[in-house]
Amino acid sequence: MNIIRFENVSHRYDGKAALSRLSFGIEDNKITVIIGRSGSGKSTLLQIINGLIKPSEGKVEVFDAPLNYSSINKTRLKIGYSVQGTGLFPHMNVYDNIALLGKITKQLRHVTETRLDMLMSLVNLEPGFKTKYPYQLSGGEQQRVGICRAMIMNPPVFLLDEAFGALDNATRNEIHAELLNMQKIEPRAIVLVTHDLDEALKLADNIMVLEKGVIQQYGLKEEVLNNPSNEFVKNFLRQRIN
Ligand SMILES: Nc1ncnc2c1ncn2[C@@H]1O[C@H](COP(=O)(O)OP(=O)(O)OP(=O)(O)O)[C@@H](O)[C@H]1O
Ligand SMILES: [Mg+2]
Repeated sequence: MNIIRFENVSHRYDGKAALSRLSFGIEDNKITVIIGRSGSGKSTLLQIINGLIKPSEGKVEVFDAPLNYSSINKTRLKIGYSVQGTGLFPHMNVYDNIALLGKITKQLRHVTETRLDMLMSLVNLEPGFKTKYPYQLSGGEQQRVGICRAMIMNPPVFLLDEAFGALDNATRNEIHAELLNMQKIEPRAIVLVTHDLDEALKLADNIMVLEKGVIQQYGLKEEVLNNPSNEFVKNFLRQRIN
């Protein structure tokens, strides 16, 4: 089942095409990785999914209905979003950063707290971190807090834009494992943007290769790997280390 649908979606910035006539669906409960070079349109695509950008043309459906831009904040509560640098509030401690959305939406305090504890343990953050401030955390710890914050309302969709790009390999590998574990425990549609092929191959169920705002190939990871649809995808896959 597709939880997100694009139909002939194009986007231009100042008349210049960033995405051209994209039609595709994003499968529920799977990890879809969007990969492509810098400037290929990955972040634009993600921001169209959560309504931060209204496309110049085309139809976007999320949760089986066209995005309604006049009530977009309500929809966005159901879409977790995590970017590099995490966007944590520096003047709030870890607890308040994560619990923020629960408070805004007046979710019961004990519901928020139970979920917060569960999420922190899933990403291996000790309870003692709750009273710490972002500046007291390493980059990896901050990224983990960012994931907990995005997941506090248990959103059916989770978008990640190069969220792990600034981390060292060991930390990135740990967080990858935590994300996969979380996906096992509470599956959702994850759309992850990266330019790191190894990350894509490790995490993806489905892979979309973007270049110059056009889909070069989209399908099961194995299908893309074993059956690259054109020279661009073939060359792109050559970056693989092994
Ligand atoms: N706010 C904006 N105003 C004008 N042009 C933009 C804007 N945002 C992106 N672009 C342009 O649109 C194209 C796609 O940008 P986008 O950020 O979606 O690419 P990306 O694949 O995420 O790149 P990266 O890997 O570097 O993050 C680029 O040519 C970029 O310069
Ligand atoms: Mg980007």
